[in-house]
This record gives sequence, C-alpha cells and structure tokens, in this order.
Amino acid sequence: MTGPTASAPSLEGTAAPASVLSAREVVKYAYDETGAPITGSDVRLLKGVSISVRPGEIHALIGENGAGKSTFIKVLGGAIPAEQGEVAVEQQPVVFGSSRRARELGISVIWQEFSLSPKLSVLENMFLGEEITKHGLLDRSEMRRRSTAALARLGVQIDLDRQIDSLSTSEQQIVEIAKALDRDARVLILDEPTASLTGVEADQLFAVVQELRRKKLGIVLVTHRLDEVFEHSQRITVMKDGATIGTFDTETMTRESLIQKMVGRELGSYFVRPNAVAGEAVLEVDGLSCGRAVVEASIVVRAGEIVALGGLVGAGRTELCRLVVGADRATAGTVRLRGRDISRWTLRRRLDAGIAFVPEDRKSQGVVLAMSVQRNLTTRSWRSLSRRGILLSPRREQELAESLISDLEIKVHTPLQAAATLSGGNQQRVAIGKWLVKPSSLYIFDEPTRGVDVGARRALYALIAGLVERGAGVLMVSSDLPEVLGMSDRVYIMREGRIAGEYAAAETDESELLRAMLPETHAEVAS
Ligand SMILES: Nc1ncnc2c1ncn2[C@@H]1O[C@H](COP(=O)(O)OP(=O)(O)OP(=O)(O)O)[C@@H](O)[C@H]1O
Ligand SMILES: [Mg+2]
Repeated sequence: MTGPTASAPSLEGTAAPASVLSAREVVKYAYDETGAPITGSDVRLLKGVSISVRPGEIHALIGENGAGKSTFIKVLGGAIPAEQGEVAVEQQPVVFGSSRRARELGISVIWQEFSLSPKLSVLENMFLGEEITKHGLLDRSEMRRRSTAALARLGVQIDLDRQIDSLSTSEQQIVEIAKALDRDARVLILDEPTASLTGVEADQLFAVVQELRRKKLGIVLVTHRLDEVFEHSQRITVMKDGATIGTFDTETMTRESLIQKMVGRELGSYFVRPNAVAGEAVLEVDGLSCGRAVVEASIVVRAGEIVALGGLVGAGRTELCRLVVGADRATAGTVRLRGRDISRWTLRRRLDAGIAFVPEDRKSQGVVLAMSVQRNLTTRSWRSLSRRGILLSPRREQELAESLISDLEIKVHTPLQAAATLSGGNQQRVAIGKWLVKPSSLYIFDEPTRGVDVGARRALYALIAGLVERGAGVLMVSSDLPEVLGMSDRVYIMREGRIAGEYAAAETDESELLRAMLPETHAEVAS
C-alpha cells in the first residue's frame, strides 16, 4: 500500500497536504459492552465529528471532560463501530471491524487506560494475542528481534524480560508505542498520554513522539495540558458536546482563545487562593518509614492550610499518603491526627476519625465502575448513617447525589447510569465527590486534577479552597508544578523515599522545586 504517501507532502507546502487519516461526520449513539447502540436510546455521544490528520503532524484533539474525545478515538481505532459517517485511511474509505483490523491498516491507539498485562513480560506484551509462530510453535527469537528493533527505533533500551508492572509509567507507554511501531503504524493516536507522567517523563515521551513525527507518522494527541498543545502540536481540533468546533493552526491560537473555544466562556484567574489562616496542626507525621519506599518522613499539615507533596513518580509520595491513612503499615514512626496518636489504628478507624483520601488510581480504588454514579457518591454516607441505625432514604440519597453532581459539574445523563459509562475526567470527579458528603479534618488528594479539563479544574480548586476555609487541612500530591505553586501554602519535595526539602510556596519557583526533585547527580548538572 504505497499510494498517496509516496508524494511525501511537505508540511510547509502551500496546498493542503493529503491526509493519512480522516473522518467525516461520525455519529455514535450510546452503546453497550459490545459497542452496539443501545436499542431505544437516542443519546448521541458523537453528533457528526470530523478530523483530518496529515503525515508528519502532531494534531491535538482537545475538549472538556465528556466532550467525546475518547469515544471518537475508539471509533478511529476500530474498538467500536460508528453508526454514521466515514473513516478513510490515505483517502481510501475503510470499515474497521476490530482494533486488529485498524492496526493492520496502520492505525494504532495508546488508550487512556493501558491495555498491557501487568504480570507479563515486555516481550509477551509486545505480541499478546498476536504471537508469531513457526511450524505451530512460538517463534520467540523472531519476536525478540522485532521487539528490540522497534525499541531501538525509539532510541530506548528496555529489558524485554522485565515484567510490565516493574516499569515506570512512561516506560510502559513506550512499550505500547513500540508495539504500534512494530505493526507499521502510519497513525499513532495517544489518549492523554502524559496524564500520569511527571514533567521529566513527559519530556522523554515527547522526544519519542517528535521522532515519529519526523518519520512522517500522523499523530493525534488528546490532552488537557494546554502547554503541551502549544509546545508540540501543529494543528488543533476542538470538540465540544460530541461535535467538532473546528480545526485551527496552533500558531494562530492563544491559550485564552483556545479555552474560549473549549468551554465557550472566559475563565478568569485560574487558581483559587483560599482565604484562611493556618491554625493548629491537623496532621503530624514523625519519622515515618516503610522499607525503602518511605524513609523517616516527617511532615506537618495545619488547619486552614494546603500543603503540596511534589516529587518524581516513584519518589514515595503515594506510599507516604497510604501510610498516613493506614492503607499500608509503617515499620517505624508516628502519625497524629489533631494531636491524637493514630499510628496503630486501622484504615477504617482513621477514615471514620476524619481523614478523607482520594487515591491516585481511581479505576481500582476510587470508583466502583459497575455501580451507579449516585451510589458511588453516597456509599460513604450510607455506611456512617446506617451504622447509627438510620438508613439513608432513597429520596435523601438522590438529593445528596444530585447536589454533588451539580457542585462538581459531573456530566451525567442520569445519576443512575453506571460509573463505567462516564468519561475519564468525570469518573475522577465522582472519586472526589464521595469524600465531600461528610466533613473531614484532613483531606488527602493524590493527583486530584489528573485528566480533569481546564474548566472543571478551576471548580475543583475552588472546592479545595472551600475545604480549608472551613478549617480542614489539605495534603495534595501533585506533579503539576504551576498547580503546586498556585494552590499550596507550603511544599514538601520527596526524593527516593525521603523528604528532600520544605518550601514556602510564595518564596520558591519551578526551577528550585525541580532541582530538589531530581536525583543528586542530575541536580548538579541542572544547577
Ligand atoms: N457506553 C456508553 N453509554 C453511554 N454514555 C457513554 C458511554 N461511553 C461514554 N459515554 C458518555 O459519552 C460522553 C463522552 O465520553 P468520552 O469518554 O468520549 O469523553 P472525553 O472527551 O474522552 O472526556 P475526558 O476528557 O473526561 O476523558 C460522556 O458524557 C460519557 O459519559
Ligand atoms: Mg477521555
């Protein structure tokens, strides 16, 4: 299949270059597990979405949570069929029957939720379900050769025998990209690839993506990080409410004009500073340790204060939070909540005593996907209320859920729909919402704005500010340095399990924090 790419349209050319992938007026109705439209439902998730991707461009696809980006990508990647519209690869209309068929035609997708098997090796994952055989036997040496070649094209070295869950998130993504390259991808679609990466890791990923762009692949990048859009993309397609607003050249846009197109209004100042004075200590952590993950960590969070916990992925931030809430057992050190030693308390007892914990991995810990949005939001109050012998009436449950849905602007068709059918960012809001039913003394948020769009981010900041204004303390893990500086009063940086530094947010800057985050050898280079 050589065809039109042979003419290798240059990006600077005057005539619009031929597209490597295009979609016209794609319509998709609400669908069941098989991808088939739900009979009787007239909810249209996509109402005629179009895009045209050129070879050698990074094409950003942006829009608010629930705009339909992931749904559109599922159609482009062959995971679900569309009911109307046309998809063409190099101007040839195609009918995708499956993801495998789409891959054969050169369309590879790196999904928002990974599809790698954590307990298998890199090599096994590279050919999962599509193993190469010779005379009916697995051809391991051929699979090895091809995997090594694909990784080499990306300029990275990853041991093929390592188990996937021992790799960092960015390495896992690179494995997914290598897998796509091995299948001769002409288009690579990335759904929020940097949502769980720190800046350093994101740079590593973009180095790889830019390399593919030079090799004339068409790249579609879904992201909520506008800095990335401006730094890396050439064109931008904006989606809103299941429709395309338009495609724009990146250089003609500004941050404000883009936000205006996405949300249809101006946002004003982005971060929301709480109007509160720090009071007594809510949380005192002293010498907390657990193996090599957390080593003699000591921190304090006061009432009326937002404290950020920064560091690279793997620095021990999530582990420290888990020790504080009692999800894991510390081997040494103490935790005090409002002066009381809770070090020996169970997780349940700590939560009941006033710690709220929104974990990082909402899929496995935050939200029960099969349960309705309403029940997810109210389960915590169910427990605390029914234990006192009073049952939450269905009516009260509904009211509670509806008020949270409106406060957090959660996008639902009905509160009774399964959480699984919400968009990624809306699931995140549910994970947060369920902790807001009952007031707590300490809120621990692990990467609260990951995958949340600009408009909702601001609503979330206002909400966090409201919590501290009411006298709670907030501990917030964040890899987003502008957010750390914009929202917190104080910042602790963790490095290799230890607290490497403490800063007043008003007296520090991104480069100082970044230096503190990097391992010692790098820090010397940076300074
Ligand atoms: N199977 C389904 N049935 C009904 N509604 C669905 C289904 N899957 C997704 N939706 C709805 O379709 C809308 C678009 O979801 P989608 O995941 O495409 O959004 P998104 O733009 O990727 O958002 P995010 O930025 O939060 O990831 C959402 O309102 C979501 O609740
Ligand atoms: Mg999505």
